[in-house]
Amino acid sequence: MEYKLRKAEPRDVPDILRLVKELAKFEDMEDQVALTEKELLEDGFGETPFYHCILAEIQGEPSSDGPKVIGFAMYYFTYDPWVGKQLHLEDFFVMEEYRGNGIGSEILKQLSDLAMKTHCRSMQFIVAENNEPSINFYKRRGAEDLSQEEGWRLYRFDEDSLNKMAAPTEE
Ligand code: COA
Repeated sequence: MEYKLRKAEPRDVPDILRLVKELAKFEDMEDQVALTEKELLEDGFGETPFYHCILAEIQGEPSSDGPKVIGFAMYYFTYDPWVGKQLHLEDFFVMEEYRGNGIGSEILKQLSDLAMKTHCRSMQFIVAENNEPSINFYKRRGAEDLSQEEGWRLYRFDEDSLNKMAAPTEE
């Protein structure tokens, strides 16, 4: 199967949102996707992009009317005060019918190249603990489970909590 990897462009926003939703559905959390194409366009392609994407696109004449963009990785740069620059892999997904062809590994290779070139010290990501196939996929490539080995837990302030903390105190 012929495919190529390329950087996402503004015209790819509908495909990005489609794949974000497909991954959320895979994780049984489709109803949590509130993002719109407008926000994805502003946030990824403005003056200060908040995220970047590598897309996997099948080449040649598609045999059906199915999509040509069939996988993606969304990532951004972050900073660890102990070691410095880090790559954060946010979403990583290849449509089911195209899995097992090496596309995911090729995407990780590109991201690893990018991490090395930009002097990142590591690439981190979050995986649901019941997503065993992916955990094994990552472990086979050397990933460590930081929750298990270092005891880190993921926390979040939701918008309500943020509003409460940000609200001006009444006189
Ligand atoms: N489906 C999935 N994996 C298969 C497969 C199939 N039909 N057939 C074989 N595999 C094996 C491959 O042999 C390979 O094993 P390896 O680790 O020994 O190399 C591995 O699974 C898949 O490798 P590859 O083909 O390079 O990756 P991929 O294109 O299948 O993409 C994922 C990998 C994780 C992106 C893809 O499986 C996926 O989208 N999974 C569902 C979403 C997900 O869990 N994302 C990660 C969230 S953190």
